Amino acid sequence: MLGLKANTSPQWANIVLNDLESFLTDHAYNEMKAAQSAMAVINHKPDDKDFVNTMAALAIEEMQHFEMVYEQIQKLGLKLGPENQNFYAMQLRKFFPKTKDPHQKFIQKLLLSSLMEARSCERFSVLIPVLKPIKPDLAAFYQNLFESEARHYRIFLEYARKFDEKEKVNAQWNDLLTYEAELVHNLGQKALVHG
Ligand SMILES: [Fe+2]
Ligand SMILES: [Fe+2]
Repeated sequence: MLGLKANTSPQWANIVLNDLESFLTDHAYNEMKAAQSAMAVINHKPDDKDFVNTMAALAIEEMQHFEMVYEQIQKLGLKLGPENQNFYAMQLRKFFPKTKDPHQKFIQKLLLSSLMEARSCERFSVLIPVLKPIKPDLAAFYQNLFESEARHYRIFLEYARKFDEKEKVNAQWNDLLTYEAELVHNLGQKALVHG
């Protein structure tokens, strides 16, 4: 469904269970960054009403997710810690050759956002069955988010295909997925959404 080329090792979910505070902190900031990414692309298509409305709504939804994750942190008696660097996102951005072409930058941003949404979904799907018997409320919370983030993944990918040649975008997407699969093989050792 998500088209990813690598699965997260199930062991990662146990690492998360042992350090929910780090995981939820990282997750909260990821939601904030997702809101920032949605806002940042509006400037690329200011004359496209549908796009501006969709991205504005998405940015608001991601900040609601931030609030929801923060609420979970408080419910569990945990603390929101400081923000960590997202190594995964930094490595992903290295995939595309540097360009000064604003249109290319725009398509790259859409594809990177789509992929980060897809990987979040996959990670949630690994976590949910492990959480269910121990923390059913938190498992239900992640099931709910899975559905939102899966919708976001499709939105970004569909806009990339709409705003550029579909064949070209599909080829870029496929190469990006291959690159990401390599990256993911070496991750899954930390209580982070993408780490
Ligand atoms: Fe979100
Ligand atoms: Fe999202």
